[in-house]
Amino acid sequence: MSVLFASSEIYPYAKSGGLADVADALPEALKKSINISRVMPLYSFMDVKKFKLYTSYSVKIATIVYDIEVFSLKKNEITSYFIKAPHLSTTEMMYGSKESDYENNDLRFALFSMAIVKLAQELDIKVLHLNDWHTALAALYVKEFALNIRVIFTIHNLAYQGLFAEHTLCKIGLNKKYFHLDALEFYNKVNFLKAGIAYSDVVTTVSPTYAKEILTREFGCGLDGFLNYHKEKLYGILNGINVTRFNASKDKMIVHNYDRNSLEKKHDNKIDFIQHSTLKDPRKPLFVMVARLVQQKGISLILDSFEELVSQNINLFILGEGDKTISQKFTMLALQHSNFEYFDGYDEALSHKTYAAADFVLIPSIFEPCGLTQLIAMEYGAIPIVHAVGGLKDSVYENGTLCGEGIVYENQNREEFLFAIQRALKLKKNGKKLKKKRVHNMGCDFSFTPSALEYLKLYKSEL
Ligand code: ADP
Ligand code: GLC
Repeated sequence: MSVLFASSEIYPYAKSGGLADVADALPEALKKSINISRVMPLYSFMDVKKFKLYTSYSVKIATIVYDIEVFSLKKNEITSYFIKAPHLSTTEMMYGSKESDYENNDLRFALFSMAIVKLAQELDIKVLHLNDWHTALAALYVKEFALNIRVIFTIHNLAYQGLFAEHTLCKIGLNKKYFHLDALEFYNKVNFLKAGIAYSDVVTTVSPTYAKEILTREFGCGLDGFLNYHKEKLYGILNGINVTRFNASKDKMIVHNYDRNSLEKKHDNKIDFIQHSTLKDPRKPLFVMVARLVQQKGISLILDSFEELVSQNINLFILGEGDKTISQKFTMLALQHSNFEYFDGYDEALSHKTYAAADFVLIPSIFEPCGLTQLIAMEYGAIPIVHAVGGLKDSVYENGTLCGEGIVYENQNREEFLFAIQRALKLKKNGKKLKKKRVHNMGCDFSFTPSALEYLKLYKSEL
């Protein structure tokens, strides 16, 4: 069976969040069982010299013919294809500037989707695995061209739907018949994500709990009715991580490698981390957060609880990039509090060092389709503190014996969050109990292997 996995980002070529990690880890976990390749855009910041020209073709969108070049690279036995197309490959960033998305993202990702389908035909692909709205139109094209390709569509985050004004239909040459409620129309706009939901054979999302949540008004982002209509083909499969890349005993990005039997070296990472920061005293519990700075990640709760949080005898470090107003607030707060440091930017190596140094990782998300930071935290022996939603609820347990163990609060409010912090501080004082939890978590399997089997069944239409 030949599978093509399509994503707008794949680690290490381009990454803005967990999607890139999944696009790295899931095909890795599947490669032993099936013939799988990947496809993503060739962005202008990528070094094309590292890739080989594989093929070229043209695609027609509306009345215009666009020349496409497809580059490729085989690494770890998986071939990745990179689509070089007008508009798609000429922007400075992937999706837009910090202020706004690119105006022609409709055309850019329609081109990408059309190029994916053409490549799938050239490669004689039997299963096309699409991810998020950037690839969703490919599901529609497969149906429109009546191709014999099974399409799986994964929703990584329902909050991002690819919404455009009605004239997008004309711009990307889509028949008016698609502008109705059962297809792409969404409150008078064109919704790309709906194409993925409507025209795929199977729709998945990234945790069992999120698969249930998105059928409700609270989490459905306006699509709960539409998803309920399609729920017979909806599955929730928990993400995993690439445990070769996120591996405390081999990670080249951290200073001292360690495993569950040498946790004292985790403390050496903390000492090193504190020395290289504005923080003082590595004996203090170190709370960290590594996240895109968007409201989804529970920023309001952090800000509401901030004074009380930093008045504890702790160190707090936040690594995050995103919303300008949020980063400005954190920058100000860091100037006022010597036990709080904020790093404004995206830095993969620093994120690894942060997990290796941390005692506790804060994940107070309002909603979280899956979340990978709790899994990475546990892999590095740090204890996650999570709001019981989505994939956080499916992967972190308090007072249990299940993999993995952390601190879980039920309701998104200041009292419950700060009480969770108190439980963390109590745990920190009980060295034996803390060590037991760390050792337990570091022995758990957070890889993609178990979930890859679920995807395999869907590819083979066995579920
Ligand atoms: P999301 O996809 O919603 O951003 P996930 O928890 O699924 O959330 O994945 C986030 C990924 O991005 C993790 O690998 C995390 O370590 C990484 N990450 C987030 N922010 C940063 C940052 N500022 N610098 C480095 N890595 C980051
Ligand atoms: C999205 C979600 C996150 C998930 C990631 C990978 O960005 O916000 O919860 O872990 O995709 O599936």
